Amino acid sequence: MSSLSPPMNVAVRIARQAGILAREWFDRRHELEIKQKGINDPVTAADLMVEEEIRYHLKKAYPRYGILAEEKGGNLTQERPCWIVDPIDGTLNFAHGLPHFAISIGLIEKNVLQGGVIYDPMRDELFTAERGRGAYLNDRRIRVTRPTEGMTHALLATGFPHRKLHQLPGYLNAFEAFVKMVADQRRQGSAALDLAYVAAGRYDGFWECGLAPWDLAAGVLLVREAGGLVSDFANQEGFLTSGNVIAAPDAIHGAMLEVIRNSGLAG
Ligand code: IPD
Ligand code: CA
Ligand code: CA
Repeated sequence: MSSLSPPMNVAVRIARQAGILAREWFDRRHELEIKQKGINDPVTAADLMVEEEIRYHLKKAYPRYGILAEEKGGNLTQERPCWIVDPIDGTLNFAHGLPHFAISIGLIEKNVLQGGVIYDPMRDELFTAERGRGAYLNDRRIRVTRPTEGMTHALLATGFPHRKLHQLPGYLNAFEAFVKMVADQRRQGSAALDLAYVAAGRYDGFWECGLAPWDLAAGVLLVREAGGLVSDFANQEGFLTSGNVIAAPDAIHGAMLEVIRNSGLAG
C-alpha cells in the first residue's frame, strides 16, 4: 500500500473526480464544441470544464499553492509549491472516441518534482508517486523493466512532432534508427500515460520532443520513483523547458540517448 502526503491525497481525490467528469463527457462527446488553439492543437469544451473543476478544488484545498495548467495557463514560481495540470492528456483521442486519455496532476517545489498522479478513467487506473516514496498503480508498487539484452527486445513509446515540424527530419532519423534496433514502437497519443506505462513496466522506454510541462511533470516523477532515468536530449534536467524527454531504465537510457544524439534531433 502507498501512503501519500496530505497534498497528494487531495490531488488523488481531485484527479478521480475529474476523471469521472471526463468520462461522462467522453460518452457525450458529440455534443461538445471543438476549437483549434493552434496548428493541430484541438481543445474541447470538456478540457475547459475539467480544468476548471480541478483548479477550483486545488485552490480551495491549498490556496497558497500556484497552478500551471494547460488551458488557462499560470506560472511556475520558486516562492511556493505549484501544481502542474493537464486536465485531459490525449485530447485528440478523446475527441475521436479513442478511450485512451488521462488526467495528470504534478506537484513541484523549488524546481524539484514532489508528487504526481495520473488517472485513466476508462480503465480506472490510478498511477501515483511521491518523491522518495516509490511509484504505485492502484496501490501496488510498480517498477520499470530490466532489459537484459539492451535494446533488442525493447518496446518503446513515442509521439510525433505534429506541431513542431522543424523537428521532423531529426525525429525521423531517430525513429528509423530505433525501428532497426528495437522490438517495436507505439504511438498511443497520451504522453502522460506513456510515462506511466514506462513506470509500470509496460513499455521499456519513451522518447518525444517538444512536449509541455503539463504533459511531463507527474509522469517524470512516476518513472523516477519506479527506478527509471529521465533526462532531456543533453542528458540534463531541462525537459520541463525544452519538452525533449527520454525516460527508460538505466540499462537502455544511454543507448536511447546516443541514437537521439546521432539523429540531429538533439541540437
Ligand atoms: C498531447 C499528448 C500527445 C503528445 C502531444 C501532447 P494533449 O497532449 O500528450 O501524446 O504527443 O504532444 O500535446 O494535447 O492531448 O493534452
Ligand atoms: Ca497534454
Ligand atoms: Ca491536454
